[in-house]
Amino acid sequence: MGDFMRQRSKRQEDNGLGSVLDVLLANARLVLGVTGAAVLAIATLAVKRLIDRATSPRDEGDPKAEQKTLEESWQDLTLIKTAPKPTKKQRREDLSEPLLSPARPPAPEPQVCSAPPEPPQVESIPPRCLTLQEKLLSHYSSRLAVPEVEASLAPQLARSICTQLQRFLRSKCPELPFGNLFLSGALLDGLEALAADHIHLMLPVVLDTTLWSLIPGEDTVVRNPQYWMIKRTDLEYFPRGCSPWDRFIVGRYLSSNVLNETLHKLLVASINWPAIGSLMGSIIHPVVASQELKLEVKHDQVELSITLFPVVEMEGKVLLAAPPEGLVENLWLESFYRAEVSKVKELDAGDAGARQHCLRILNGICKSHPTLHKLCGSPLTHVILHLSATSSDWAEESLAERFQEVLEELVGYLEQGVLPSYFNHKIDLFCELLEEEIDEMGFMLYRAICEPELLLKEK
Ligand SMILES: *[C@@H]1O[C@H](CO)[C@@H](O)[C@H](O)[C@H]1NC(C)=O
Repeated sequence: MGDFMRQRSKRQEDNGLGSVLDVLLANARLVLGVTGAAVLAIATLAVKRLIDRATSPRDEGDPKAEQKTLEESWQDLTLIKTAPKPTKKQRREDLSEPLLSPARPPAPEPQVCSAPPEPPQVESIPPRCLTLQEKLLSHYSSRLAVPEVEASLAPQLARSICTQLQRFLRSKCPELPFGNLFLSGALLDGLEALAADHIHLMLPVVLDTTLWSLIPGEDTVVRNPQYWMIKRTDLEYFPRGCSPWDRFIVGRYLSSNVLNETLHKLLVASINWPAIGSLMGSIIHPVVASQELKLEVKHDQVELSITLFPVVEMEGKVLLAAPPEGLVENLWLESFYRAEVSKVKELDAGDAGARQHCLRILNGICKSHPTLHKLCGSPLTHVILHLSATSSDWAEESLAERFQEVLEELVGYLEQGVLPSYFNHKIDLFCELLEEEIDEMGFMLYRAICEPELLLKEK
């Protein structure tokens, strides 16, 4: 609150200057067109921020005040972003001459406070002029691609663990009809970047469909279309005990929480992981304090974490026992992962497209990025799927162009604070993000639209 008021009054002080800049901007849009104006807006924003900082030394080193300025600034910029988009041709020009772009991000270094922003600084330009496309490809191959040894070793270890776990469950709980465990995850689908460090292990819970039916989360107290409940039906004719899963019922529903607790106990206390690990030359630890059913595997050449997901497939839906924290119990999360991957692959197969390549690069960038990591995976995939409906040119040569367009689309969704799922528009993939996170991501990506190289820096 204090911060907010201080920002407000500070704004009042430099109102004179602010309105001059606004007039300048309004005219610039007429003269330069939207892209030019956006570029100028960022430069102007830099000036505004520099003046802000120079005139209020008490904010120096106060990260909160700094952040507030960033957020507000980003919100200011959205005014410009809602103007008509630049045409395709304009964008192409932008891409082919990324080094000539006058766009500079707001300079964060306080030492430039006293000087007006300079024209593009020559020293930051690499010696050889690479196109954005070349930069993306080299960034991917040098820094993001999963090393081959890891990429083959990790699934191999996961498969061995899968076999051992299956054997254990069959002997320990023969009465429970689990289906065949299988592996899943971006690494196996060729969509992972950076490191082969995460694999999902799916444990099918096979239900007799005459005894169970699905209730949409929207119709329950949680009012959330991402979740479902699995209801035991016909208890009058087929009393408790008729389904092997009846011991997991809580109030007529198959409880994902009770199932989780049972499996958690087995993983943590019953399975002889040291023995299994030694068979594979690795050390396996169940993670006791995790929300998820998680194993950590350490091997000489690779470290990975494996998450076990009980999964129910029913009525064409894939439901995971991954209930939300602190909410109503017994919920099952609908997963679109398989649908996402197969849709992207199908589209790429249809037009020899580079969607998967684009996705790998974006996943790699976001995964290790302090601000953007929550966009990794599904959100990025859904943006690419949405974009595929309007942009038809996904050829390898247009990779950089599509990459830039994905950034623009993301900024648009972040501005609205909503990313509708490609498969069900009622589901918002941003629903678990905080407003500050959305603002930070939006601002970061807004800068990256003008200077994608920002995302390709060394970490
Ligand atoms: C699963 O069970 C364990 C052990 O009771 C618990 O710590 C964890 O929070 C549970 N996870 C979920 C998602 O409920």
